[in-house]
Amino acid sequence: MNYRHSYHAGNTADVFKHYVLTLVLEALHRKEAPFCLVDSHAGAGIYSLRRGGEHEHGIGRLWPERERWPALASYFEIVARFNPGEKLKQYPGSPMFMREFLRPVDRAVLLELHPQECSFLHEAMRGAPQVGVHHVSAWNGIRAFVPPKENRGLLLIDPPYEQMNEPAAVVAALRHGMHHWRNGIYLVWYPIKSRRTVDSFYRAVTAAGAPAHAVEFITLPLDMELRLNGSGLLVINPPWHLLDTLGATLPPLAARLAGEDGSPQVRILDLAAR
Ligand SMILES: C[S@@+](CC[C@H](N)C(=O)[O-])C[C@H]1O[C@@H](n2cnc3c(N)ncnc32)[C@H](O)[C@@H]1O
Repeated sequence: MNYRHSYHAGNTADVFKHYVLTLVLEALHRKEAPFCLVDSHAGAGIYSLRRGGEHEHGIGRLWPERERWPALASYFEIVARFNPGEKLKQYPGSPMFMREFLRPVDRAVLLELHPQECSFLHEAMRGAPQVGVHHVSAWNGIRAFVPPKENRGLLLIDPPYEQMNEPAAVVAALRHGMHHWRNGIYLVWYPIKSRRTVDSFYRAVTAAGAPAHAVEFITLPLDMELRLNGSGLLVINPPWHLLDTLGATLPPLAARLAGEDGSPQVRILDLAAR
């Protein structure tokens, strides 16, 4: 396991992922019934930002002009809680976004396999009694914790994709989810480097019986196969209006984050209808 998210924290893919996550968390808040959030690849929870890091092309571009992005106000509000001054020094990971939305009746289950990241995560979650941190592989943890007893909530699957078997493990996890927690909300992050790889992933997801929409957020041309040209989120059981909101708000965001040399493209695909 070589992957450490600190190198990537706050980059373009994180902005996209955590913005969508914030919208889902807001939607869960609209009803009083308790919910459970499962984060299968939780990371360290909070990251220090250093000069020259990938965040400079992500949150770093938006932060000084955040007043101009009212659609992202709730996302920026969470980032601001970790950055009390004007300067951006820290970036919250998905567990922090989740923690900020938990009411006393709600719960979060965080899974992280890397020992050091997991111990940072324990520390970051101190004082949050509704949060359980588990040093366990996501693929075992999902089987143990899904479905949650609340039968309402979200499973976020966000692997590093450094192992060849991770796309197949994601598909197996979704197959388990569709059998045991059909009405849960699912968000699955994936990199987009080439169209061929992504299309075969989509076919496998559909064959597993998962009725997913794919939200693609691309900022660089797809002919640069070795780079992270964009990323996507599979969304299963999206909250009401989520996809419409993303259809309106993501294109200008992709254009801004792509910069002058980029190639912004946002697509929202109903995989079951292909
Ligand atoms: C992309 S990062 C997660 C970022 C986090 N979800 C966020 O948005 O802030 C992926 C994390 O998965 C962890 N990881 C890798 N393989 C894992 C596995 N099989 N089970 C659980 N965690 C794993 C890595 O150590 C890394 O911290």
